[in-house]
Amino acid sequence: MTASNPSRELAGLPVDSRYWPVGRHHEVLKRSLSDIEGFWTDVASQLSWQRQWDQTLQWDPPFAKWFVGGMLNASHNCVDRHADSQRKDKIAYLWEGEPGDRRVMTYGELYNEVNTFAATLQDLGLRRGDRITLYMPMVPEFPIALLAASRIGAIFTVVFSGFSAAALSGRINDSGSKMLITADGSYRRGKIIPLKDIADEALRSSPSIEKVIVYKRLEKETELQRGRDVWWHDAVQGKSHFVPPEPLDASHPLFILYTSGTTGKPKGAVHSTGGYLTYVYATQKWVFDIRPEDVYWCTADIGWITGHSYVVFGPLAHGATSIMYEGTPDYPSTERWWEIIERYKATILYTTPTAIRSLMRSGDDLPRRHDLTSLRLLGTVGEPINPAAWEWYFDVIGGKRSPIVDTWWQTETGGILISASPNLGLVPLKPGSATFPLPGIDAEIVNEDGKPVQNGEKGFLVIRKPWPGMFMTLYNDSERYKQVYWNRFQDMYYPGDYAVKDADGYFWLLGRADEVLKVSGHRLGTIEVEDALVGHPAVTEAAVAGRADSVKGEGIIVFVTLKPDYKPSDALRQELREKVRNTIGPIATPDEIYFTGSLPKTRSGKIMRRVVKAVASGIEIGDITTLEDESSVEEVQKAMATFTRQIE
Ligand code: PRX
Repeated sequence: MTASNPSRELAGLPVDSRYWPVGRHHEVLKRSLSDIEGFWTDVASQLSWQRQWDQTLQWDPPFAKWFVGGMLNASHNCVDRHADSQRKDKIAYLWEGEPGDRRVMTYGELYNEVNTFAATLQDLGLRRGDRITLYMPMVPEFPIALLAASRIGAIFTVVFSGFSAAALSGRINDSGSKMLITADGSYRRGKIIPLKDIADEALRSSPSIEKVIVYKRLEKETELQRGRDVWWHDAVQGKSHFVPPEPLDASHPLFILYTSGTTGKPKGAVHSTGGYLTYVYATQKWVFDIRPEDVYWCTADIGWITGHSYVVFGPLAHGATSIMYEGTPDYPSTERWWEIIERYKATILYTTPTAIRSLMRSGDDLPRRHDLTSLRLLGTVGEPINPAAWEWYFDVIGGKRSPIVDTWWQTETGGILISASPNLGLVPLKPGSATFPLPGIDAEIVNEDGKPVQNGEKGFLVIRKPWPGMFMTLYNDSERYKQVYWNRFQDMYYPGDYAVKDADGYFWLLGRADEVLKVSGHRLGTIEVEDALVGHPAVTEAAVAGRADSVKGEGIIVFVTLKPDYKPSDALRQELREKVRNTIGPIATPDEIYFTGSLPKTRSGKIMRRVVKAVASGIEIGDITTLEDESSVEEVQKAMATFTRQIE
């Protein structure tokens, strides 16, 4: 215990030093990097293994294999370990549906459900190594299904329930899934999303699916296709027996999760069983300081990596109690989250800057009406947080008692790489900085030549050593894995983010260095949106750029050129908007669509993205030198002037 806490001193933050001893973060980081293998051996030993590994790391750049020869099962680690202990009656999930219905599930109950559903999957023909897609609402059956699949060694791939039929079908086809789990529908802002209807549409072009299990969430007429579809509640009848957790190689894929990149085709990040589980277990403890008495709430949907790692596998590996909520933060009012925190006495809240900014707009009165004093730790993820939102979160939600962990990571990294660690000893916090790399993470900021930048210059974030949570490859595309992540800088992982280190060595993440947008924290490739637009018969060419948005972080601005027979109109604009929603999903809905005579191009015919971005952002011609591009400033200025005239 230390008398003074620099967190308090540095930003004038009255963080209670009884809970947040200062200090070991740097020491543990240094020690871990001097003996990576020894360090991760100690961490992995805290999980339950069916066979001890022979080799901690086999590093054949850029392919890493962790815990070679070791065998384990994720569902055994997340469920059986607790159900077989005094934690049997401990609550795993406190669930609340959007309409207000509630369920409580203990580890003992979770164990029974997971076994029953694993037996059901086996009975329906799913085997080790088979792929299974999930397109589910946030109900307890979602984690149950993931755990059941992992219990029998099937590889799951989750598609966020806000994605369109086309996006769902594309992911099913790429993964070659033979089974789909979905629901008749889900609630969102009081409306019904007909998930099964969307799935039916997707399945018209996804012939690999042999069976569909449909969870009944609504009172809604739903058609089942004979021989293919079965209700969840019918399928599980008479299956309540123990299914032994399959011993799996540490590098057996636990899941594939698709994410956006710089081409139209999403990338399937393949995560291992042993490395991934070790990493989420470790970071759940370091970052969230998870303790037996905590009531922990990560608000992410399981459809994203944050939900995989910190709603399902991280907290369950620790036998923690989590809140799970089906709906949006603003339904029926923006008081909903504060009610939930008060009702369940949540101690940890982990959410996105977008959610914080949008709740902040409703003012301080709503959160102040509720007792939020149970909170002891706050977190953010997915995008940079602006100091004003940070201060509001700290003052109004955390009551100036709770530190904020700003966590930087990605779908590919499996778990958090850069964050403060209350468990190891909290470093002084700076609003907007994710602070320091976690133990085992060798992060640096480099220039174009891959050399560490000097004097706090802006550069590219890289990770110089493998870590267990690192994805193993891209599904069916190891070449693209090498190309995208490892070719830019020799033997260094390139995440695609800009960053700077300040004079105290703090990391500040500055957003994407590539053609990837972060819209409400969701990751979207500009080219994905452009591909959707050129799929419309009226469109010749499209260019998409992000523009700073005070709530969503980034908004989507679109420029299109039309085929000669088409004229710009509001009706066409609406059609194009619909086209994007139907091709990708509502998260990709453009904020603004501009019709233009032509797009700015280089002499070789490449769209000048720098110009498109500058025009979208309303940047003055004089300021465009701050945008990255290879083309000359003069050329860019000329293109920008012409382009701006055209769209006005
Ligand atoms: O640009 C970074 C941003 O989100 C990207 C990863 O997106 P995704 O794979 O969807 O994963 C999001 C949830 C882990 C990163 O390349 N990002 C994530 N966290 C932060 C962030 N940017 C700034 N600060 C963060 N804390």
